[in-house]
Amino acid sequence: MLSDALQMAGRSKMAPCVCLGLLGVLCWVWVSFASFPDDQLSLGTMDAVDRAAFQPQSALSEMEFASVSSYRGPGNLDGRSNKELPILLWWSAGLFPHFSGDSERIDCARSSCLATSNRKVQLYKRTASIIFYGTDFRAYEAPLPRLQHQTWALFHEESPMNNYLLSHGPGLRLFNYTGTLSRESDYPLTLQWLPFLDYLFTPASVSLEEKTRLRGEALAPVLYMQSHCDVPSDRDRFVKELMKYIQVDSYGKCLNNKPLPGNLEDTSTATEEEQSFMTFVARYKFHLALENGLCPDYMTEKLWRPLHQGCVPVYRGSSVVADWMPNNHSAIVVDDFSSPQALAEFLKRLDENDDEYREYLEFKNPKRVTNARLLDALESREWGVNDMTKPNYLNGFECYVCDQENARLAAARAHRKGPNTSKPPQAKVAKNSHMGCPLPSPGYGHVQDLPADDGWLQTWPQDYWQSLDQAEGLESLIRHNESDPSLLWKHIQSMAVRRARGKP
Ligand SMILES: *[C@@H]1O[C@H](CO)[C@@H](O)[C@H](O)[C@H]1NC(C)=O
Ligand SMILES: *[C@@H]1O[C@H](CO)[C@@H](O)[C@H](O)[C@H]1NC(C)=O
Ligand SMILES: *[C@@H]1O[C@H](CO)[C@@H](O)[C@H](O)[C@H]1NC(C)=O
Ligand SMILES: *[C@@H]1O[C@H](CO)[C@@H](O)[C@H](O)[C@H]1NC(C)=O
Repeated sequence: MLSDALQMAGRSKMAPCVCLGLLGVLCWVWVSFASFPDDQLSLGTMDAVDRAAFQPQSALSEMEFASVSSYRGPGNLDGRSNKELPILLWWSAGLFPHFSGDSERIDCARSSCLATSNRKVQLYKRTASIIFYGTDFRAYEAPLPRLQHQTWALFHEESPMNNYLLSHGPGLRLFNYTGTLSRESDYPLTLQWLPFLDYLFTPASVSLEEKTRLRGEALAPVLYMQSHCDVPSDRDRFVKELMKYIQVDSYGKCLNNKPLPGNLEDTSTATEEEQSFMTFVARYKFHLALENGLCPDYMTEKLWRPLHQGCVPVYRGSSVVADWMPNNHSAIVVDDFSSPQALAEFLKRLDENDDEYREYLEFKNPKRVTNARLLDALESREWGVNDMTKPNYLNGFECYVCDQENARLAAARAHRKGPNTSKPPQAKVAKNSHMGCPLPSPGYGHVQDLPADDGWLQTWPQDYWQSLDQAEGLESLIRHNESDPSLLWKHIQSMAVRRARGKP
């Protein structure tokens, strides 16, 4: 679904391949460029840390800056040379959304920056922002000391289970800018898995008549297809209970009760849609669409794909999923039911009543789409999915950070020149609502009823709380101006001791 470039850079976490020997030389040349005239970039608010920042001698070669891309956003009149631009440093190893070596000039809608993945620039004055890929963010590898003049930007498009540090307020408050699944984030990726509106309007791949015929041939009404079983949403515990009350065909590794036909591979978690597999699953009336983690606005292809295929998703994941559905009769939300049994009764009723079932597919007629929020969000988002006329969201977020940083630097300069007429730039800090996710809870039943040796219980709630400790530990490292992130464990320990003694 995503553009090839993005898949290569993001999904598979592979860095573009380059000749290492040559790279070494170029890196050195490039970083030595990062010294600059003080008047250009030093901020009025810069403190001792920043003044002491590493400043290599300049042995300049224009070579690394020779390729200047010709694209400029319509409002971009930035005529500065590359060596005058603020630097954005991609911290996450292997994630750098450009192909030409380890640095590139980016010309965004309003301004330009240099993007790089070369960590040597970490402490440079000119390095304005450090960008992190959420899944790869580790408190014990954070760039320290944290410099006052640098912002941190979080790009997090994946499941909360990949990094619970980012599900807590103290974790999110480490960052200044966010591009996350939450609609509240600065650069929302909420509908990332919905490529375009017409994706929803494709006619159902298998007609209701055919589905009904297949039901007569002992095909279950409900499909479950998961091979990632030990997950924080604990979906298997729920499905196991549901299976007591309604027939579910389960082909994946989790709760498997049917083999996949030999010619099909389980591609349920792949980004590419394999046609014969899709036709196979489209025969079911209902798809269990259960995310691996629960978080407001966390919705994946598990939800959008059945809508596309004309199968009704039985969904759990984002508690506010209804806000994004084409109309109020498009998905069946698990948490609207008092129990798996009550849900099963409802599904059986729809299974036996074609008219009621059809109501769930009415949104395929564009006139039956009533959700203005969905339509507005799709129309106004500036990035595309496999759309060559728009930036992908990774480059889009990078440009968002670039424009923000240039605006902040310009405001700081103006304030230095005219303190009475220009206000200093406002600090901007991310909030819990930018991705905060709740404590994982059992897929069925109450946590206090689980046996102490329950595998889920021993894994996910602990992971969630330990991640909070790490977020607070990193906050403490930053507050103490530590430069060695491996001191994290020591800070976590002393915080625990202080707490045990009743101190804040
Ligand atoms: C913070 O740490 C850096 C590097 O260890 C040091 O150069 C700087 O003086 C410290 N700043 C403060 C305010 O303690
Ligand atoms: C569902 O949408 C229809 C049409 O917009 C509306 O009349 C109805 O009140 C809605 N029902 C609920 C339960 O929100
Ligand atoms: C700015 O304001 C301060 C206090 O209001 C005043 O003392 C100072 O003269 C002003 N400076 C300029 C350049 O206007
Ligand atoms: C960035 O966020 C930190 C908190 O993590 C805050 O102290 C700092 O002032 C923010 N910087 C800017 C420029 O907003």
